[in-house]
Amino acid sequence: MTAIDRRAAFEQAAAILAENDRGDYTVPTKGLYPFQWNWDSCLTALGQRHIDEGRAWREIETLMAHQWPDGMVPHIIFHQPDEGYFPGPDVWATNRPTPTSGITQPPVLAFVMKRLFDEAKDRQLAEAKVRALLPKAEAWHRWFYSARDPRGTGLVAILHPWESGRDNSIDWDEPLSRVPTEGVGPYQRRDTTHVDASQRPHKAEYDRYLWLVQKYRSLAWDNSKLHDASPFQVVDPGFNAILIRSDSDLAELAEAVGEARVAQEARARVATARSAFDALWSDPHGQYLCYDRVAGKLIASASIGGILPIFAGLGSPIQQASLAGQVRQWRRKTRFGVASHDPSDPRFEPKRYWRGPCWFIVNYLLADGFARAGLAEVAKEVRGESLALFAKSGFAEYYDPLAGEPLGGGNFTWSAAMVAELVCSPA
Ligand code: GLC
Repeated sequence: MTAIDRRAAFEQAAAILAENDRGDYTVPTKGLYPFQWNWDSCLTALGQRHIDEGRAWREIETLMAHQWPDGMVPHIIFHQPDEGYFPGPDVWATNRPTPTSGITQPPVLAFVMKRLFDEAKDRQLAEAKVRALLPKAEAWHRWFYSARDPRGTGLVAILHPWESGRDNSIDWDEPLSRVPTEGVGPYQRRDTTHVDASQRPHKAEYDRYLWLVQKYRSLAWDNSKLHDASPFQVVDPGFNAILIRSDSDLAELAEAVGEARVAQEARARVATARSAFDALWSDPHGQYLCYDRVAGKLIASASIGGILPIFAGLGSPIQQASLAGQVRQWRRKTRFGVASHDPSDPRFEPKRYWRGPCWFIVNYLLADGFARAGLAEVAKEVRGESLALFAKSGFAEYYDPLAGEPLGGGNFTWSAAMVAELVCSPA
């Protein structure tokens, strides 16, 4: 892109961030997602920092103000009532002062904090914010290993597909098929009133999403009970990689502000997780796979979740080269990338949400990982894909990797934040 294009792109991105700004938090997009989402907000802060660093820190402070006493950070904060979204606060019934959902999302927080801190123009502000947020981030990471890895395997399980951030990925088909639907009464979805149903999950999946919510609600959202009571316990390599990267970044932040104990404990968690990680590798697939903890086996589904471990620098050089090879191979089958699932899999669907479409935030995390692993070429290609898609189709929620068509919600916050980040921090 030329210098002038970059400036225009930045201004357009800033306009979307402003449009979706609710003062202390940002909604992912009007209509479809009218509340604050966990990993959306953290990644949004990466874009906001180029406009106003104070505002970027406030975005994540607002999220962390709603952390649960046990350390969990919810995936949605229902700041204001809004009838346009289902399931709303009455379905979750988590009994929090400000209503929240009862599940979490990928913990990109500490990674984002570190980037904000390392590249801060206002050093004093950044240091004060890191000091204030560090214990909260630490409590969240500790919570993961106690509530979601009760047997101490070194890797954490998600208990709901929505926790992965990749809601209807093909990865969940098998474990989700074991989740019953009895007792899920009639309900009215709202997502399909905002977006074409062919780009959203099917009803059979939705019934099971709701069954899980009802199950956890019946256990009063007691995280000491949820894991073992759940028929859905999946170890997602992408999710675990994000946690590991964030925990390493937490250790570095802790050191930078003189919190040696926090750094040491984070490093110990990272070491345990890294040594457990190889169990998720599949030679025949040439990438990592999800592990179904209930069935006790890897799930044969080559999704982007199994490439994301590059974000934490996981794998040997040979495995890392294989992950780069996967991305290249997928890209040869699509015009715009990176797809969220292997396009040669017969289950691949180019328009249905996380079963094929391309997402800027994933491209961003992948490019960061490949660059750090010394795979600069593929990192550059992946960054270029997001900018090419933006130039063609603007700030969509996600994109068809074959046609480049914009899909899902429009004027989407995190897509705008990623474009701001790409044009302001060229590799
Ligand atoms: C969808 C996405 C999830 C995101 C949310 C808000 O549920 O799958 O990753 O956080 O929308 O944008």
